Amino acid sequence: MESLSREQKEAFDAVLEGESIFLTGPGGTGKSFLIQTIMEEIPKLTGKTVAVTAMTGCAALLIGKFAKTLHGWAGIGLGRGTAQSLSQNIRKIPPLAKRWRETNILIIDEVSMLTPLLLETLDEIAKILRRSQRPFGGMQIVFVGDFLQLPPISKDKVTRFAFESPVWTSLVKRTIHLKQIFRQKDSTFQTILDEARKGSLSKESLTILETRINQDYKKEKIQPTILFTRRVDVEEINTSHLDKLPGIAKTFSAVTGPSKHPPSEILATSEKMDKDGMYVPILTLKEGAQVMLVANLDMEKGLCNGSRGVVVGFQETTNWPIVEFKYETRVIEPHTWESDHTPPIVRSQIPLRLAYALTIHKSQGATLDCALVDIGPSVFEYGQAYVALSRVRNLEGLYIFDICPRAFRAHPLVKSFYDGTYIPPQVEETNKDIPSVSAPFKKGIYGFADDNEEAPKEEPKTKQTKLNSYFPGVGRN
Ligand SMILES: Nc1ncnc2c1ncn2[C@@H]1O[C@H](COP(=O)(O)OP(=O)(O)OP(=O)(O)O)[C@@H](O)[C@H]1O
Ligand SMILES: [Mg+2]
Repeated sequence: MESLSREQKEAFDAVLEGESIFLTGPGGTGKSFLIQTIMEEIPKLTGKTVAVTAMTGCAALLIGKFAKTLHGWAGIGLGRGTAQSLSQNIRKIPPLAKRWRETNILIIDEVSMLTPLLLETLDEIAKILRRSQRPFGGMQIVFVGDFLQLPPISKDKVTRFAFESPVWTSLVKRTIHLKQIFRQKDSTFQTILDEARKGSLSKESLTILETRINQDYKKEKIQPTILFTRRVDVEEINTSHLDKLPGIAKTFSAVTGPSKHPPSEILATSEKMDKDGMYVPILTLKEGAQVMLVANLDMEKGLCNGSRGVVVGFQETTNWPIVEFKYETRVIEPHTWESDHTPPIVRSQIPLRLAYALTIHKSQGATLDCALVDIGPSVFEYGQAYVALSRVRNLEGLYIFDICPRAFRAHPLVKSFYDGTYIPPQVEETNKDIPSVSAPFKKGIYGFADDNEEAPKEEPKTKQTKLNSYFPGVGRN
């Protein structure tokens, strides 16, 4: 509590008073940091039950091991179906139904990736299961995020934001803007990031950023994390780096623990966990491989999700990888992840992934020591270039693969939302039914935010050549 800033404390007090709020502010203002304090302190002070969720598995892991994806917490699988049918399924699993009934405060981080349709479906489910017509069945909701970062997936090309939903308007009576940036200390970099966030990079800022192109990062022992827009590039870069290492490759496969659930259920769950989880189901490593932890092992020693290190060998007896991190070298044993079942189905795997490259989507919410970012013409989403840029703490930790001023775009509706000119949909006061979902929202999808990683257009040839020159073996036609 002591360490909260004045504005963080104000947000904390609003939650304490029982208000449903929207906690926003640029990247690095400590929004997710505050969630941890809320999670620890509010139950002690009020006896209330707090659930912490985020829109992606990666973002959930960043907040702490108690956090789940919103889909996982809600127990709605992929979220397909009506609120009625989803509620029926939830009722069949008593602990899940209990969770819906007994949660007092639901926190949703990275809310910029929440579709209005999912918000409306969850609101209906809450009303059904909690037998209350109040917004979200009377649950207190804390939305956390920055709409100038990545938006929700929109397969029909129309981006819709959670704040456009009448449910949002009926819930959120107060928006708290955090302004003090903790992630970056340097005021020049802060100015650049502020412009990038608003989608208008000045000439001066562009010139400064351009000095970060072609910087030699190869001499550093812990290499920058490469943030690219497209998943295919990321996978190719990771594999090409591993291929180039001289040692013998060792492969580790995820294993499902014993379970009393039917075999078909165990199989389906294992597959889903493999698809959605942070771990890599079949992980190949070599000595010298740059890796990232995907679990919190020892917070005090800084061995948490996102910690970067390098494989320095393999333990003789067990074969487990030995990883040198910044302050510590240790053997990394398999870690277990649990499904939402009761009792859970567990899956074990070495909690490491190759860390040469990540998609920008997966990096949202993270703080990185150093990164090589592609913010050139391949940027395909509003907020994407800003997210990439705002992950690092300082300009020295920033390496640029490609930059293009047009990559910095802020969605006009979001801009109007933040400058106060946006007119929200009209809703009648609480205790009444919310207006029905408007037609455009129905066209949205229930997608996981992680799905939103595919660039729609083809890469120009020059990019392929450039990729190949940076990472030999990648980008060949
Ligand atoms: N009150 C504080 N005192 C000290 N450090 C803080 C404080 N608040 C946040 N930080 C640190 O600042 C960094 C950024 O915080 P955090 O990740 O919570 O920002 P965020 O607003 O959630 O950013 P993003 O929008 O990128 O998710 C973290 O390293 C965090 O530990
Ligand atoms: Mg955050």
